[in-house]
Amino acid sequence: MNRKTEELGFNRKISRRKALSTAAKVAISAVVAGVVAGVGGYYAGSYAAPPLIKTVTETVTETRTIGAATVTTTETKTVTSTVTSPTTVIRTVTAAVAPTKPLKIGVIGKSVHPYWSVVDKGSAKAGEELKMAGMDITVAFWVPYKEDVPAQLKTMESYIAEGYSGIAVAPSDPDAIIPVIRKALDAGIPVITIDTDAPASDRLAYLGTDNYMAGVAAGKAMLEALEKMGLARPGGKIAVGTGSLTARNSIERMQGFRDVVEPAGYKVLEPVCDYEDAAKALELAAATLAAHPDLVGAFGVYAYNGPAWARAVEEAGKVGKIAIVEFDATKENIEPIKAGIIYATVAQRQYFMGYYGVKLLALMNQWGWESALKFYIPRYPANKIFDTGVDVVKKENLKAYYEEVVARGEPVDWTPD
Ligand code: BGC
Repeated sequence: MNRKTEELGFNRKISRRKALSTAAKVAISAVVAGVVAGVGGYYAGSYAAPPLIKTVTETVTETRTIGAATVTTTETKTVTSTVTSPTTVIRTVTAAVAPTKPLKIGVIGKSVHPYWSVVDKGSAKAGEELKMAGMDITVAFWVPYKEDVPAQLKTMESYIAEGYSGIAVAPSDPDAIIPVIRKALDAGIPVITIDTDAPASDRLAYLGTDNYMAGVAAGKAMLEALEKMGLARPGGKIAVGTGSLTARNSIERMQGFRDVVEPAGYKVLEPVCDYEDAAKALELAAATLAAHPDLVGAFGVYAYNGPAWARAVEEAGKVGKIAIVEFDATKENIEPIKAGIIYATVAQRQYFMGYYGVKLLALMNQWGWESALKFYIPRYPANKIFDTGVDVVKKENLKAYYEEVVARGEPVDWTPD
């Protein structure tokens, strides 16, 4: 365990060495699952679409380079594709693979929150599955207590110094991360971004929500809420609470939201920022309500912002008088929806950011970077984005969403009733 990163925040590591008996001679079998982002554009609210389940089995012969560029092997694998929603494809590959050197994959998140615990679970699950398939792999998960750009950079630096085999990072500042991403790549360590992107960096891919489109989905849900609650009025003020003024996911969500509600005649207030401090978010929400008694809506950009608005609205005795739209679907997000205090949430699929992030980085070590990236990301390298998608959840479709989440294998800490 790395003391330095321990001091900086919360750390979890899983590790198990697996002895490979007849290592070089016997090919081991690896099960690799991949969600291939959809063909039909963004899929906000796809839970409502009729389920399309199709299983295709084909045999593929592939040539790829393992380890040093000189070693080339030809393998035969069986690919089974299951289309579980119009835009999500789950591929299972049973491949004969050569045993790898011990791998250490690092996942760096943004704050201590149940949202990130789900990413942690996805990362750990991927590590366990790869171990079952015979890989010698350690997965480390780390988050700072709240937004902390220097701590993220320091953790990246220590992973590089420790010779990690791959890093998935959610940069709170997409510019500040650029040099350390370059440093990792120069050291031969593949880096991808998850949850929030740094497109101006040399990161190999981004795996997460299309945050602009998710912001658009939130804006649409807000207009619907205002209409249904009888609060629609030209010039109505909408407040915004967020945890970052630098992270791209925050900036893109706010932009997408504004691009929907402003043309409809609403005035979006300057965001109040808590730097991923939930207690501060509540204070700011209460202060905003007091300063703007005529608010018609409130938008929670990060996972704890919706619950903060809900509590502040409740405490101010304004339930039903302010429409709230939020992000994410942990218990604290869902309870106020059940209680009719929050109208809708844009639920991310962050479990898969951890799960596929770890699988992609591990397989990049085994198959070569390009082969693994091409396997997981359609049209790579022209496209470097693996879109995990979102679901727009309201009281009326909570049960259907719950069933969908359970069916996809995501952990859930709430019940729909
Ligand atoms: C965002 C994360 C953030 C989390 C908790 C999520 O909505 O995607 O970037 O760290 O909320 O604040």
